[in-house]
Amino acid sequence: MDSVAIAADSLKGPHFSTLPPLSLYVHIPWCVRKCPYCDFNSHTAKGELPEDAYVDALLRDLESALPAVWGRKVVSVFIGGGTPSLFSAASIDRLLGGIRARLPILPGAETTLEANPGTFERQKFADFFGAGVNRLSLGIQSFDPAMLRALGRVHDDDEARRAAEAALMIFGNVNFDLMYGLPQQTVEGAQADLAAALAFSPPHLSFYQLTLEPNTLFHRTPPPLPDEDTAADIEGAVHATLGRAGYAHYETSAYARPGRQCAHNMNYWTFGDYLGIGAGAHAKLSFPDRIVRQLRWKQPKQYLEKMAAGAPLQEEITVSRDDIGFEFMLNALRLTDGVAASLFAERTGFSLSLVNRAVEAATAKGLLEADPSRLKPTELGRRFQNDLLELFLPRRRAPGVRVAPLLQVEATGVER
Ligand SMILES: C[S@@+](CC[C@H](N)C(=O)[O-])C[C@H]1O[C@@H](n2cnc3c(N)ncnc32)[C@H](O)[C@@H]1O
Ligand code: SF4
Repeated sequence: MDSVAIAADSLKGPHFSTLPPLSLYVHIPWCVRKCPYCDFNSHTAKGELPEDAYVDALLRDLESALPAVWGRKVVSVFIGGGTPSLFSAASIDRLLGGIRARLPILPGAETTLEANPGTFERQKFADFFGAGVNRLSLGIQSFDPAMLRALGRVHDDDEARRAAEAALMIFGNVNFDLMYGLPQQTVEGAQADLAAALAFSPPHLSFYQLTLEPNTLFHRTPPPLPDEDTAADIEGAVHATLGRAGYAHYETSAYARPGRQCAHNMNYWTFGDYLGIGAGAHAKLSFPDRIVRQLRWKQPKQYLEKMAAGAPLQEEITVSRDDIGFEFMLNALRLTDGVAASLFAERTGFSLSLVNRAVEAATAKGLLEADPSRLKPTELGRRFQNDLLELFLPRRRAPGVRVAPLLQVEATGVER
């Protein structure tokens, strides 16, 4: 190829004959009280929430986004936060009804709502189900009362148990968010905590190691966390116990019983598209010749004002060719089984040759399986995920950037 052809080729964008599956993320940015470790776009609810105005804004936001997703069917919906269960069931009903009236949702599509046990009321949860929520993601964190206090949670272990029991009865399809590596936690303590969770046999568990995120109270005044070896021992013990209990560790932080993987997050990890509405929500949308990322205004008040003026977007960028390859890998390599190699072209619009050199280097280092039909991390690659991902970093990005925690949490339509 001569230099002109090379230059022209490097300018070419992606090409899609079929667009990826589309999910919808809805962000509700308020909580009873801000937790000291949390750097999500969540804000302590002061006084009465502007629920009606916010649902109106979300539906207007959706309407303004319709031309970008025209004719496409939504495969999953995730209402995350913050604490969406702070909203009344009537508001969630109006929101889901409004979404269905504007956007075709596949019949039976997974529709998740995030809930905090501190907001639990049996009738309210039943009404969420009546409104069309068919999966509940419950922020339990721990069943140990001392740990819940250390985490500054608004609920105790009894409330966590009551919410867990009712959620399983009403929804069946339930995720528990649990954290480990908690202040002064021992391996035995973590095992007892996990046993308490397993007593409920939840279909899905998300396990996050507590991290000290910048801009949080814990970052400024760190609690006494277990050392690295103890945290690694806890992780090993948790992993072994969950395996024996029949859970597949299918993604870095996610464990599921057979058939109970989170469809919404699977769409993120397989580089599907998502429209994100609400304060600070992110979207990734493919068009026949480009992939676009959008960011909505972050502060709830600002979002409501901008929405009233008909301008929800703070930023919209076309993803560059180099970033597309990296972003695909950042997601796909979180999956224990990786993905079919053919998915790369389907979801990025480029041939796999875009990342050939990095694939070869990762395989040579024993971080990727040497199977040309799959992009699958080896056990070593899963252990040293950052080293693996750094090989795919576009050259202009400095190595050492924090890549692993980017998509750590259940709902990733809002990144921290
Ligand atoms: C947006 S919250 C949703 C649940 C709900 N807001 C609650 O906390 O009950 C998602 C999850 O992220 C996890 N998380 C938040 N901050 C974290 C941190 N600093 N380290 C590890 N996990 C964290 C928690 O397990 C939390 O349940
Ligand atoms: S962890 Fe959950 S409840 Fe706590 S502040 Fe963050 S989003 Fe709100």
